[in-house]
Amino acid sequence: MARNLLDIVDLSVEEIDQLIAVAEDIIEHPAKYQDACAHKQLATLFFEPSTRTRLSFESAMLGLGGSVLGFSEANSSSTAKGETVGDTVHTVGCYADIIAMRHPKEGAPFAAAQFCDVPIINAGDGGHNHPTQTLTDLLTIHREKGRLDNFTIGFCGDLKFGRTVHSLVNALSRYENINFVLISPEELKLPRYVKEEALKSKGIPYSQTTDLESVIPQLDILYMTRVQKERFFNEEDYLRLKDSYILTPEKLVNAKADLSILHPLPRVNEIAVAVDKDPRAAYWRQVKNGKFIRMALILKLLGIEV
Ligand code: NCD
Repeated sequence: MARNLLDIVDLSVEEIDQLIAVAEDIIEHPAKYQDACAHKQLATLFFEPSTRTRLSFESAMLGLGGSVLGFSEANSSSTAKGETVGDTVHTVGCYADIIAMRHPKEGAPFAAAQFCDVPIINAGDGGHNHPTQTLTDLLTIHREKGRLDNFTIGFCGDLKFGRTVHSLVNALSRYENINFVLISPEELKLPRYVKEEALKSKGIPYSQTTDLESVIPQLDILYMTRVQKERFFNEEDYLRLKDSYILTPEKLVNAKADLSILHPLPRVNEIAVAVDKDPRAAYWRQVKNGKFIRMALILKLLGIEV
């Protein structure tokens, strides 16, 4: 059976560390990898909007000398005619060597994986998981901090629907001595199942607050997120909560000098553009890292060693 990446815990800590090492080697020596996936095809099946995830996957495969096919909206595929996800993926598995798939329904990539023999990568399933963003985040932390242990990280914003947060909390719960600070409005707290699985069951300490400014001075990493408009049940709640946190240069005055500010992007209002000039803003570097870690992941899942 093909090796998939559906949930970040499908990879062991050793495998994640290995992917990071390969990604860092790709950054140093891109030419070494430029033909590694010659004659291989990646399909990107995006049933939900995306800029970075889809294009970084495509750019990653092109950077490895492979080619790409796929669709970026469900309406341009036979989904519009009523085809099931299973049949769509079964079909694409007859053409492509590896599939990256994003879907608004939680669990869709898990179900799809039953219908084809090529590796399936979960590129985001509803408000559930987003393992390749997590790999991007881990590579970014490694490059910014030089380590993946012994730090305090604050997650701020929509921790309820933010799938990147769920996967990153899960991943970091396997590293040593990470202190989790969960910053959100009452209504957007980290789901109980994530807290149970990743933190409580392992006895990992965490704190929860609604107040970003009071905790900023203690953070080594601040992971900002967008309020996930598309997952709200009514517009009124979204409008009330959307501007709960807006990071500005003034709010960073008491932050550590070596703080790293991450955001999976897209941002709406939660980080003022003026923060981009702060050397602690790592989110544009994070975007770049997303391509390299996906190159490493494609190589791994296709079983290609360079
Ligand atoms: C995130 C996502 O799709 O979950 N974006 C991304 O993949 N970089 C975050 C978001 O949409 O807010």
